[in-house]
Amino acid sequence: MKLLKFFFLALLLIFVIMQFFRPDKNITQGDHTVDFIAETKPPVEVKTILEHSCYDCHSNNTVYPWYNNVAPISFWLADHIKDGKGHLNFSEWNTYDAKKKDHKLEEVEEMISEGEMPLNEYTWTHEEARLTEEQRNAIVEWAKKTRLLYQADLQPE
Ligand code: HEC
Repeated sequence: MKLLKFFFLALLLIFVIMQFFRPDKNITQGDHTVDFIAETKPPVEVKTILEHSCYDCHSNNTVYPWYNNVAPISFWLADHIKDGKGHLNFSEWNTYDAKKKDHKLEEVEEMISEGEMPLNEYTWTHEEARLTEEQRNAIVEWAKKTRLLYQADLQPE
């Protein structure tokens, strides 16, 4: 019994100490996706979906839930955001060349039609981010159309 008590106290202590450590937040003031929007011209519906369902992990600005104040959840979220942004960052669209933009939009098509994005872990707590079939179709259609623009760019002169 004594050992068990010691074990739980130790765990509690670790948890308390953990609270003093916070990962850096992913926050940008102002219109961080202005280049992306100007170039890909998503219809209002698609733009709204991207804002509500994707930007938290795929842009330089995350709207954090309250539980981000609790470690180790904060570290878990920071890790997801870093991973998501590393794969695709709408705030840094102008750093991608035409080939990469085309490829990223191809992946958007795939991820969305397969229902892989937004991640399940996210929609458990962000009910409003879950996509209807209609919304998925709107994204895929926009991605397909926009890819043509980049593919035209890639044609040899
Ligand atoms: C909770 C965070 C989160 C949300 C919200 C989210 N994603 Fe992701 N996304 C990730 C992570 C993490 C990866 C990389 C790992 C993987 O593929 O599962 C990823 C990968 C991707 C990829 C693959 C990119 C590549 O280079 O392989 C695409 C495309 C993508 N997401 C699109 C979207 C779109 C579109 C939305 C909104 C409808 C969205 N994601 C919402 C976290 C997220």
